[in-house]
Amino acid sequence: MQNIQNIQKEILRLKKENDVCILAHSYQTADIIEVADYTGDSYALSRQAADAPQKTILMCGVRFMAETAKILSPDKRVILSNPDAGCPMAEQLTVQQLRELKAKYTDCAVVAYINTTSELKTECDVCVTSASALELVRKLPQKDILFIPDCNLGSWIEAQVPEKNFHFINGGCPVHMQITLRDIEIARAKHPEALLLVHPECLKEVTEKADYVGSTTGIIKFAQNSTENQFIIGTDNSIVQHLQLAHPDKNFYPLSKNCICKDMRLTTIMDVYNCVNGTGGEEIVLSDDVMQKARACIDKMLD
Ligand code: 13P
Ligand code: SF4
Repeated sequence: MQNIQNIQKEILRLKKENDVCILAHSYQTADIIEVADYTGDSYALSRQAADAPQKTILMCGVRFMAETAKILSPDKRVILSNPDAGCPMAEQLTVQQLRELKAKYTDCAVVAYINTTSELKTECDVCVTSASALELVRKLPQKDILFIPDCNLGSWIEAQVPEKNFHFINGGCPVHMQITLRDIEIARAKHPEALLLVHPECLKEVTEKADYVGSTTGIIKFAQNSTENQFIIGTDNSIVQHLQLAHPDKNFYPLSKNCICKDMRLTTIMDVYNCVNGTGGEEIVLSDDVMQKARACIDKMLD
């Protein structure tokens, strides 16, 4: 019978033999992160996708991440580890709806959170991730911003960029939006000494109460570098586990036991094995037109 370590050894051998670069989002499980070439937030993964020397990229994450990798590396094969892994937020707005919004807000820069489909990106001026959004929006020459689809990330930026006018739709991450003020009350009462670190996809009322707000990598780095040793984590609970494993001398508590992205959990170590073996996953195929137009929007962020 195979055990996980044997499967991992085979994956390491096969990825070398078949020239595959494994990119894993930080919400993936530890067994997958251990065999990945790079792990990080959406911003770090798009940078790595652009730079990876291998012929094939295996994206262990959700569909928009694999599409971003394909757009940045059109000559490579890009495989999504589990074809069912999508981000519900990426599908919250159709291209037709966005066109109608653009007709209404004619003077706005259209800013797309990276958690959008490639088709939506073709209609946007610039793409942002939670790690890059603040800096990029500040630098835009336009004063008026149409920010899609996450109104929570958008509101968090708005509060820090008061010189600009923002327009939002009613979109957002169903996983982070479940976190409530009541969760904060309970967690703070249980762990009064702990710092509260949350993702900007959380509701505005939640980010307002946090000691630190940042992307997945931002939260990890903050906890690593802090001289404090107790943290309540307001993002996918995989981060609580990864941080606890990496820093046994510190204590990490989930802000909400419900904060688990089921799409990010779909990929298993056997999916990874099947992908490096050439029998699993889904190869991402996008039209040249979509790739070219969506790339302009992503390139602006990376530049
Ligand atoms: P990060 O860019 O922080 O990884 O966020 C992506 C995401 O989907 C979080 O829910
Ligand atoms: Fe999408 Fe939210 Fe899951 Fe991130 S956590 S992939 S934004 S549903």
